[in-house]
Amino acid sequence: MAGIDSRSEQLYRRARGVIPGGVNSPVRSYSPFPLFVASAKGSKFKTVDGEEYLDYCMAYGALLSGHANPEVIDAVEEALEKGSIYGQPTEMEVELAELIASLMPSMEMVRLVNSGTEATMHAIRLARAFSGKKKLLKFEGGFHGSHDSVLVKAGSGATLLGSPSSEGIPNEVARNTLVCPFNDEKIAGKIIRDHSSELAAVIVEPVLGNIGPILPKPGFLETLRKCTKENDVILIFDEVITGFRLSIGGAQGFYRVRPDLTILGKVLGGGLPLSAFGGRREIMEELAPLGPVYQAGTYSGNPIGVSAALATLESLRKHAGRVYPRLEKMGDEMRRGIGDYLKSSKVIAQVNGVASMFQLFFTDRPVIDYHSAKSADTSRYQKYFHSLLASRVFVPPSQFETCFLSTVHSRAELETTLDVIGTTLKTLPR
Ligand SMILES: Cc1ncc(COP(=O)(O)O)c(C=O)c1O
Repeated sequence: MAGIDSRSEQLYRRARGVIPGGVNSPVRSYSPFPLFVASAKGSKFKTVDGEEYLDYCMAYGALLSGHANPEVIDAVEEALEKGSIYGQPTEMEVELAELIASLMPSMEMVRLVNSGTEATMHAIRLARAFSGKKKLLKFEGGFHGSHDSVLVKAGSGATLLGSPSSEGIPNEVARNTLVCPFNDEKIAGKIIRDHSSELAAVIVEPVLGNIGPILPKPGFLETLRKCTKENDVILIFDEVITGFRLSIGGAQGFYRVRPDLTILGKVLGGGLPLSAFGGRREIMEELAPLGPVYQAGTYSGNPIGVSAALATLESLRKHAGRVYPRLEKMGDEMRRGIGDYLKSSKVIAQVNGVASMFQLFFTDRPVIDYHSAKSADTSRYQKYFHSLLASRVFVPPSQFETCFLSTVHSRAELETTLDVIGTTLKTLPR
């Protein structure tokens, strides 16, 4: 880790004078100061102090194809030559929407936006308008961006706040958001049935990713699908993390459950800010200018983000037969390797994950929902994080985030990382 008078520390001091907390997103803040990055390539980034780190945060899951992916860079450079934004439709936007619809057949129509927050906000408005109802059901620890309706018992940076929601959200708004434990199909089913006359939508991350990865129990997503259908409630899959990561068809392809609306982000943009929401034609046709639901954005569908998304998705589609099995195999090796080191070092922790998502939780309880995740020892995680950092391995600074593999992480890097994790676990106080 960079020393006392490092450039990172100097920049952090400067940043705090003009940027609240010195960072533009709270999850980037950690003690004693965050590393400031100068450049990145493949699976590594270099700090302003010239130190290189192996990255398993990968911009919180955005970079499935690695930092500065050459196909993305070429596509963006070519697009930039032709202008960065027109405020008019382009052929590329049509191609991208068609490509998304072909990879995720539940997305019969697609709207492009710039962030996951924007996408979930608009999808929820749309669900409310289409259903004529106003309540929303979300799951504890699920994170759907930082707008009012969904910042209730939320994961990601919000998990660490004393109260998991945020100041500044009117009670009248929060009251319309019902919250249920993840993986509890009985309670979820009861809430959906009891509130069916006022419940517009259920929004769920099919695999929770913002409290660390938590997998759905077999049957949980299927129950949500069945109950929402029977009670005329819209099912929204927030696939900002899982979309194009669990499979080329996202979590809905992986688990074979078809939602009414889907949110995409992160991997979709290939490292540029691009997100999308889409779903059943009859719902999507309620959007302006066709219908009465207003949604708009100056930079929506801009050619730079769209060109990066097209390059990313086309490459993933072309190589899907090789890419996804490899990611799954490497994820399995990582999870198994960490598990073996836990046994030999006698450190008590759980290893969770699926495909290219993994994390260990310092708790003796199986992590299946928000409460079991919160039983993890966060001070122990801090020691683990800093020890990895000292060995130039960067994982998310919070216990309640997910580590991500990319298509460019090599087997040799994985083995090095496991060695570092093994050594770290041995040195953690029992
Ligand atoms: C599942 C999920 N939904 C929504 C969002 C919000 O996306 P963005 O950060 O692009 O606004 C995130 C971000 O971490 C996310 O993980």
